[in-house]
This record gives sequence, structure tokens and C-alpha cells, in this order.
Amino acid sequence: MGSPLTVGIIGVGNISQQYFAQFPALPNLKLVAVADVDQARAAAVAKEQGVEALSVDDLLTDPRIDAVLNLTIPAAHVEIAQRALDAGKHVYGEKPLALATADAAPMLEQAAAAGLRVGSAPDTVLGTGIQTARAVLDSGRIGEPIGATVQWTAPGHERWHPAPAFYYQPGGGPLLDMGPYYLSSLVTFFGPVVRVSGAATRSSRERTIATGPNAGTPIPVDVDTHVTAILQHANGVISTVTVSFEVWATRVPLFEVYGTEGTIAVSDPNHFSGAVQVATKDDRETWQDVDVQAGYADAGRGYGLADMARAIETDRPHRASGDLAFHVLEIMESILRAAHENVVIELSSTVERPDPVALGSRPESW
Ligand SMILES: NC(=O)c1ccc[n+]([C@@H]2O[C@H](COP(=O)([O-])OP(=O)(O)OC[C@H]3O[C@@H](n4cnc5c(N)ncnc54)[C@H](O)[C@@H]3O)[C@@H](O)[C@H]2O)c1
Repeated sequence: MGSPLTVGIIGVGNISQQYFAQFPALPNLKLVAVADVDQARAAAVAKEQGVEALSVDDLLTDPRIDAVLNLTIPAAHVEIAQRALDAGKHVYGEKPLALATADAAPMLEQAAAAGLRVGSAPDTVLGTGIQTARAVLDSGRIGEPIGATVQWTAPGHERWHPAPAFYYQPGGGPLLDMGPYYLSSLVTFFGPVVRVSGAATRSSRERTIATGPNAGTPIPVDVDTHVTAILQHANGVISTVTVSFEVWATRVPLFEVYGTEGTIAVSDPNHFSGAVQVATKDDRETWQDVDVQAGYADAGRGYGLADMARAIETDRPHRASGDLAFHVLEIMESILRAAHENVVIELSSTVERPDPVALGSRPESW
């Protein structure tokens, strides 16, 4: 391993704590500084983490920093990423990649022209859960894949997040917020999507912040809160996807893959690890636990950036890539357009399945 990739984080809110928890386990990343529009928050977090607090402008131009980890809200993702690229830095950001593909495309072009990397969450799909499900699928144990179904539902993130307004603005909603976990998994399993249709709605339910200093504050809802879609993959597999902030209770399974010989019950792709089970035509009543067979073990948020750092060092493609996130964004954007215009949409982007992650491998030595 060469010298670590030096990292500055912009946006140190709720999710940043999960990244901070992983830095000690990732020797090819070195955290140098943090910044936030809320400078008092940046200062407090910097003190906790034993790093410097800088202004956003200073962090973006700091010559000690190779890569910006962009943990701002979705509406700021492209602006911060583009400024990082302007300053000659790689960038890895939280999902979604952007509010719209029209914003994301120039950013990816700029990065490619400059020889810089763009990476994007979710990196949960590099953990043992989704990678084990992929290994089972690729082994042929359920035969040829035919379809998959996703049903992610919840009452709404305002019940737990202290600053949930962004979840109800463009870039949020159940699709742009939770879709990336499931759609990145589906592309990991089956490859690119070529065609989508969809339907979307929202209830008149009033949303208010439930926790933290602003509890009781109403939240304007500017997104669809119940979305369903049919995706056709280039390999012929059909995925059906429902995501919702409208559901109080359900018994529908979260995520399943159907093949000619059996079914995989897939783990929650919002987590790095989780149980994967298989039932086959020979014993349809018995769900067999699958031993962990692939993926970064004991992983957490930040492994995708470490994987990108290793890919930079070894001049290989990184797995949690901007290209994958762009394809996922185009799927989501197209689902909403298909829903609003009552049409079927052919996608214009495509992407390769990312390389599988071997069990026992580490992002810094991949
Ligand atoms: N909270 C979670 O559980 C969770 C989980 C996975 C992914 N994410 C993703 O992480 C991102 C951040 O979510 P969060 O929950 O941490 O939000 P948050 O609101 O708690 O934190 C975002 C931080 O970014 C700062 N910020 C906003 N705009 C900025 C700008 N232009 N320049 C500098 N700083 C800016 C805010 O001041 C805040 O401190 C989102 O894209 C979200 O989808 C969140």
C-alpha cells in the first residue's frame, strides 16, 4: 500500500458519524479536515475527531487534501463535487449523485477529462450481505434469474431524523433516498436497466418533525411519497420496485430474487451485512441460511471511498462509481417521468456490473 489518500469532509451532519467510525479501520484513508456551512458544527466535530475545521472554501483549495468526501444534503451534492473537481480533487459523495442527470453529466465529463475519480454511495452493496446474494446468484444455485421484487416502506424519515426537510424536497422522497440501495443492488445482480415504467402518488398527510430541537415544525412535501416501478434489465430480468413513506405496517418481504430453480431472500441493502437465505424447487418449504461467501467483512460507510482510493493507486475502476450512480439516477428520474407522463421510458445510460468483492479481501489491498 502506498501513502494514504488524504480526505477532507464537507457536511458533518447525521451520517458523518458513521464515516468517522470507520476511518480507524481504513489505513489507506487519512482524514485531514472537516468543513460545514454551519461552522460551529464543523468546529465541534473537528474537535471530537482530532482534525482541523476549515471553511468550505479553504478545504476545497487545501493542497494537503487529495479527495473530498461530500456528505452534504442532496441539493448541494453537485455544487460541492464540481468545486472539488475544479480544485483538482477526487470526490466521493453520499447518494443520490445529483438531483437530475442533467446536473450530473457535466460533472462526470469534467472528472473524466481531468483524470479525477467520482465515487458515490451506497457502498453498503460491497458488504457481505449483497455480495453473498450476488455470489449465490452467479453460482447458478437458483438457476437462471427471472425477476426480483423490492418493497421498501416506512411511515417517513421525519419520525427519527432531526432535520428531515430535505427528504421531502427534490433529491429526497422514498425513491431518491432509498432507491439507490436497491437499484445499485439490482444492477450489481443483473446488470444495467434498459426500460422503465412507473406510477407515483403522495397522500395529503401532514408531516411534522418528530425529534430534536425543531420537533413539531411542519415540513413542506414537494415529492411523491409512494412510488412503484417495473424495470427491464438488458439481460431480460424484470425487477418490480415499490418504495414508500406512506406505510405504517406491512408483511411484504423486503427483497427477493426469483430464478428458474429457486428464490434468494436478499439481505437489507441499507446494511453491509445481513442474512441471505435460499429456497429451491426441491424443498420449497425450507429457507436455508447461506454462509457468508463474499464481500468486505465488518464493513461500514467509507469502504466505498477506501475501495476508490485503492483503485486510484492501482489504476483500476472503482466499484461505488459515479457511472453506476449516474445509471441509478437515470433509472429513478425515468421512473418519476414515466409515472407523470404515463409512458414507458428507454434509458440512455448503461454501466457494467461492478467487480465482485472476494470474501476476506480488504479495500486497501484489493
Ligand atoms: N442520515 C442518514 O441516516 C443517512 C443515511 C445514508 C445516507 N445519507 C445521506 O447523507 C447525506 C447527508 O445526510 P444527513 O442525514 O447527514 O443530513 P444532515 O442534514 O444531518 O447533514 C448535512 C450537513 O451538510 C451541511 N451542508 C448542507 N449544505 C451544505 C453546503 N452547501 N456546504 C457545506 N455544508 C453543507 C449541513 O449544514 C449539515 O451539517 C444525504 O445525501 C443523505 O441522503 C444519510
